[in-house]
Amino acid sequence: MQNRQFILKSRPEYLAGPENFDLKISPVLPLKQGEARVAVEMVALSAWQGMRTKDFKNFIRPFDLGELIDCDVFGKIIETKCSDLPEGVSVVGRLGWQDYAVIKPEQVSIVSKEFSAEEWLTALSSPGQTPYLALSQVARPMPGETLVVSSAAGAIGVYTVQLGLLSGMRVIGIAGGSRKTEFVTTKLGAHACVDYKSKSFKADLANACHDGANIYFDLVGGETADAVSENLAKNAKILMVGRVSANNSNDPEWDPANMRHVWSQEATIYAFSRYSYKNLFPSVNAKIGRLLKQKLLKMHNTNFSGFENTPSILNQMLSGQHVGKVLIKYADTKGNRI
Ligand SMILES: NC(=O)c1ccc[n+]([C@@H]2O[C@H](COP(=O)([O-])OP(=O)(O)OC[C@H]3O[C@@H](n4cnc5c(N)ncnc54)[C@H](OP(=O)(O)O)[C@@H]3O)[C@@H](O)[C@H]2O)c1
Repeated sequence: MQNRQFILKSRPEYLAGPENFDLKISPVLPLKQGEARVAVEMVALSAWQGMRTKDFKNFIRPFDLGELIDCDVFGKIIETKCSDLPEGVSVVGRLGWQDYAVIKPEQVSIVSKEFSAEEWLTALSSPGQTPYLALSQVARPMPGETLVVSSAAGAIGVYTVQLGLLSGMRVIGIAGGSRKTEFVTTKLGAHACVDYKSKSFKADLANACHDGANIYFDLVGGETADAVSENLAKNAKILMVGRVSANNSNDPEWDPANMRHVWSQEATIYAFSRYSYKNLFPSVNAKIGRLLKQKLLKMHNTNFSGFENTPSILNQMLSGQHVGKVLIKYADTKGNRI
């Protein structure tokens, strides 16, 4: 049996794409005692994967040249020499762009069949947990307050908008292009969504935030964050959750922040990482699971299939072509590699 993997070949000038990855094919190795083999069935692409192809300091180290590209996956144990990892169970873990992974128990979580692969990789993982934790543990929204969400049509944005609405907030999205702004209002139900690529962005944002933003869920930083800072309500809370504009820039140090408005509105910036709340993941998943079953929270993914398409789909995702979480199937329903 052979294993296909994608490894980092070179660092991108701007956004990572097929030219930056090498396909490596090698025979699968026999398992050692305490190990199990996972057949990867589905992978989830993330903005941080693009960031890690670049060589700059961040919350997580850059990929080394020649290293397997890491990412969250859903898979099934097909062979085992570990009593804690029985054959046939489904797992999620950060196992990367490959067909088969050799794992030890601490690398994965065994997941129930109560939820689908898509749900385990989205609502019940970083995309759902991040806004649930940031809103409930830090921002603590009040009904009637205004929430502004950047990258509102992205993987985390789609759950942030929905959770904000469930909290009774007035939700204003920010996204690139009319296809995405329409998606955020018509499919997610946001009260308004503003196109940051439009010439009238600043005026549109000021219009949508007429009473000021009480909470800004900042996934992108940069000029978008500056524009929102001009529309903060008194004592606003800024949840600094992501930095897509800096990640995608050739100069990640360039991340303007007009602190004048933050100061004048006596706003507070909270730098947020979901990993600081690891102990709450099980209880948060129980709550998100209930919302999924009640159909109060819905998934919005862009689905693909085929291992070899992964690098080009990453490039499309980084350049903003897709909505929601981008998922790629690596196996068909019979378990054949695709
Ligand atoms: N703090 C945490 O615990 C935590 C957890 C997970 C992820 N994150 C971070 O959250 C951020 C978003 O992650 P995600 O997975 O949800 O990504 P994403 O929003 O699904 O994907 C990136 C999106 O960013 C937008 N974008 C690209 N360049 C931009 C720019 N220059 N200015 C504004 N928007 C731009 C694009 O949408 P448009 O077409 O709308 O531009 C693109 O679709 C990332 O920085 C990630 O590292 C943080």
